[in-house]
Amino acid sequence: MRIVLAAGIALLLAPPLAARGDELGRKVFTQIAQPACAICHTLKAAGAVGTVGPSLDELRPDRARVMDAVKNGVGVMPPFAGKLTAEQIEAVVAFVAGAAGGQ
Ligand code: HEC
Repeated sequence: MRIVLAAGIALLLAPPLAARGDELGRKVFTQIAQPACAICHTLKAAGAVGTVGPSLDELRPDRARVMDAVKNGVGVMPPFAGKLTAEQIEAVVAFVAGAAGGQ
C-alpha cells in the first residue's frame, strides 16, 4: 500500500512531457553544452547572467534563429553541431525560443 501511494505521488509530481523536454533544454543550456550557453548568455529562465553574447531575453530569437546559431555558430560563438546530439540541440532550441518568447 505504501509503495502504491509513493508511486502515485511520484506520478503526480512528475512533470508533463513538454516540461521534461524543457528540463533537458535547460540542462544543455547551463551544463551539457561545452562551453555552456549560460557562460555567455543571459536568459532568466535558465538563471543565466552571461554577458559575452547578447541577452536572449532581449533578443527573443525564434526557433530558426536559435537553431542556426547553435548548429553553425555566429561570430565568436562556437558551433555545437557534432558536440551535442540532435536531441540535445532540439531541446535547447525549443527551450531558448520558448523561454525567450520568440517561439
Ligand atoms: C563563448 C560564448 C558563447 C557560447 C558558449 C554560446 N554563445 Fe550564443 N552567442 C555568443 C555571441 C558572442 C553571439 C553574438 C554573435 C554575433 O552576433 O556576432 C551569440 C549569438 C547567439 C544567438 C543569436 C544569433 C543571431 O542570429 O543573432 C543565439 C540564439 C545564441 N547565441 C544561442 C546560444 C545557445 C543556445 C548556446 C548554447 C548551445 C550558445 N549561444 C552558446 C556567444 C556564445
